[in-house]
Amino acid sequence: MDLQSEAARIREAAAKAIKTCKSIDDVDAVRVKYIGRRGELTLLLRKLGEVSPGQRKEVGKMLNAIKDEISSLLAERRKEIETALKDETLRKETIDVTLPGRRVRIGKLHPTLRILNEIIDVFVGLGFTAVEGPEIETEYNNFDALNFPPWHPSRDDFDSFYVGDGYVLRTHTSPAQVRVMKSQEPPVRVVVPGRCYRRDTPDASHLMSFFQIEGLYVDHDVSLADLKGTLAIFAREIFGPETKIRFRPHYFPFTEPSAELDISCLVCGGAGCRLCKQSGWLEVLGCGMVHPNVFKHVGYDHKAVTGFAFGLGVERIAMLKYGISDIRTLYENDLKILNSL
Ligand code: PHE
Repeated sequence: MDLQSEAARIREAAAKAIKTCKSIDDVDAVRVKYIGRRGELTLLLRKLGEVSPGQRKEVGKMLNAIKDEISSLLAERRKEIETALKDETLRKETIDVTLPGRRVRIGKLHPTLRILNEIIDVFVGLGFTAVEGPEIETEYNNFDALNFPPWHPSRDDFDSFYVGDGYVLRTHTSPAQVRVMKSQEPPVRVVVPGRCYRRDTPDASHLMSFFQIEGLYVDHDVSLADLKGTLAIFAREIFGPETKIRFRPHYFPFTEPSAELDISCLVCGGAGCRLCKQSGWLEVLGCGMVHPNVFKHVGYDHKAVTGFAFGLGVERIAMLKYGISDIRTLYENDLKILNSL
């Protein structure tokens, strides 16, 4: 066989194959086929020994030149393919800065917490300080010190969550009154937000757990007029400047006299509608003048000081403000509803 013409054939074939390479793998395959360890040209080079000594040098030179040529053609093609690949990725990953961005969803406070903060702010503006008390209370603070008689129905196992050893999940925020008065001398002006617990069967207006805000003002000459004036401001700030209020006599063991505060109906303004059950009024909170027996329990001189207290249900206020008829709506965490409030 004529090595030179065979080499020329390999050169042509390799050059042609290189031109049709579409990927790095193709290039590698061509390299292996012609100049790899068992490649066609490599095998040919091994046959140099068979060439007559006079021609060997020249033939060897020619074969090596072809090998170099194929090598550089391969390198060139490899480069072209790499560049094309890079261009392709760049083109694919281009960012279109004119496309509208994705909306960032920002969290916000739950409506119950929003109202709670709003109410606290109103009282802070009137000179009250916000403090907190524990959710696990002594039965003494929750009932006895608040003048609940031993036979009072809300002490019943069916109304309260007892946790043993004289402790109960507070059924209202009023035990905080006892803690505050035991820890400081009058004047006292505090609001106490917090979670409360009752063994109620959940329905449209009851939950086993809910928020209250307690208010307490004790000084040397606090009167029912102060209570009324304070709550009138609260009602107007939270429900709007046109809001009217009225006291309805009521009973709580720890206040005397006791009352419930009503506001003029937010829907009909007092004319009578479905929301206010035709009465024109909506019940919003319980209140009264601190009972002398409570002052005795905390060690205050009940002849020297007087005070008022009130307690409101935060979810109830939120429901009135947002027009929600079922308290459970506030705990279902339906984002469609929460975002609309
Ligand atoms: N603690 C009462 C309740 O939970 C509300 C209240 C507080 C009433 C303070 C009078 C004074 O219903």
